[in-house]
Amino acid sequence: MKIAILGGTGALGKGLASRWMKANHEVLIGSRDIAKAKEIVAELGLPDSHAYLNIDAAEHCDIACITVPFAHQEATLLSVDKKLKDKILIDATVPLVPPKVMRVQLPKEGSAALKAQGLLGEDTIVVSAFQNISAELLQTDKKIDCDVLVSGDFLEARTTVIGLVEDAGLKGWHAGPLCNSVAAEALTSILIAINKKHALQHSGIKITGI
Ligand SMILES: NC(=O)c1ccc[n+]([C@@H]2O[C@H](COP(=O)([O-])OP(=O)(O)OC[C@H]3O[C@@H](n4cnc5c(N)ncnc54)[C@H](OP(=O)(O)O)[C@@H]3O)[C@@H](O)[C@H]2O)c1
Repeated sequence: MKIAILGGTGALGKGLASRWMKANHEVLIGSRDIAKAKEIVAELGLPDSHAYLNIDAAEHCDIACITVPFAHQEATLLSVDKKLKDKILIDATVPLVPPKVMRVQLPKEGSAALKAQGLLGEDTIVVSAFQNISAELLQTDKKIDCDVLVSGDFLEARTTVIGLVEDAGLKGWHAGPLCNSVAAEALTSILIAINKKHALQHSGIKITGI
C-alpha cells in the first residue's frame, strides 16, 4: 500500500516507516517542512521522491497515519482533511498533557481518536492503533513483545489496519468500536508510570488466554 505518515519525521513515524518499508509498502514521509522530510527519507534509505508536505502526502496515499503530538493533532488534521476523503486515517495519538504524562488526562471529546473522527467527519474512517508501542523499539529490527489494540467503527477498516500492524511485526487485536480507543490511549500513561517506577524502558501490553 501507499502509506502517508503525517508528521513522519518524528520518533513514531520513523519507526513505523522503517517497519512498513521492510514489508514492501510504499511509505510517504509527510512533514510541515519539505527539507526535514528529505532529511528523514535519506536517513531511512529512500529517495527524495518519498518526502512530502503533509497535505501532498495525504493526497497521494491509499491510507494515512498521523504521528504528531496531541497538541498538534487538530491543526495537522485540519490542514489535510479534504485530502483524506474516502480514506482510512490511522490515529496513533496519545492525549498526553506534559509535564504530567503519567496521569491519564482525556480530552473533552472523550479520546484523541474520537476527536480526530469529529474533525474529519464521516468521509474519513478513523482507526486507532499503536498507542502502546515504543517508537524506539519500532526503529530496531528486534522482535517486539507487545500487542496492538485496534479500534474503529468498521470491521473492514480495522482488518486493513490489523494487516498493517502485522506487517510491522506485531500482533494486532480487534478492540471494538472507535470509542474504545480511550482505553488504549489511557494505558499509555500507565505504561509510562510502570516504566518509571520499575526502571523499565519499554513496557507494553499482551493479550493472554489465547
Ligand atoms: N514516541 C513513542 O514511543 C510513541 C508511541 C506510541 C504513540 N505515540 C504517539 O504518537 C504521536 C507522535 O509521537 P512522537 O514521539 O513521534 O512525536 P514527536 O517525535 O515529538 O513529533 C512527531 C512530529 O510531529 C510534528 N510536529 C511537531 N510539532 C508540531 C507542530 N507544532 N505542528 C504540527 N506538527 C508538529 C513534527 O513533524 P514536522 O516538524 O516534520 O512537521 C514531528 O517530527 C504522539 O501523539 C504520541 O503520543 C508515540
